[in-house]
Amino acid sequence: MIPREELLSLAREVALKAHCPYSHFRVGAAVVAGGKTYIGVNVEISSYGLTLCAERSALAAAMAAGVVARSVTQVAVACIDVPQGAPIQDRTPCGACRQWLADLAPHAIIYVDGDMRDFTIEDLLPYAFGHH
Ligand code: THU
Repeated sequence: MIPREELLSLAREVALKAHCPYSHFRVGAAVVAGGKTYIGVNVEISSYGLTLCAERSALAAAMAAGVVARSVTQVAVACIDVPQGAPIQDRTPCGACRQWLADLAPHAIIYVDGDMRDFTIEDLLPYAFGHH
């Protein structure tokens, strides 16, 4: 297990590399599998709806590195442009990312920067669709 604060700090650091020229809302994500970390940022393009979130970007990086689906143990997400004390809804994974997490990281503990709780995917996406 990577310490919670260490993983959140990595997510905050990678968020500095977010490519978000339209929203200016920088997000970083770090996922752990087999003791290694994989990082991602949100990537926005001119056709806004095709934006990739940081969580999916990190999960895709893990898959590209050969991580076995469902072996992810921890995920950290940091929305570094959210003011301190802003509601949790301003910084939690979007619906699409929750489905990715349900499929690829169903056993992970999920940390959201600025919130003390350890979330599971059941907390974030109850009754998730999934066939295996
Ligand atoms: N975004 C993420 O990367 N992850 C989230 O959990 C929420 C939203 C991105 C998408 C878009 O680039 C920007 O944040 C504003 O919605």
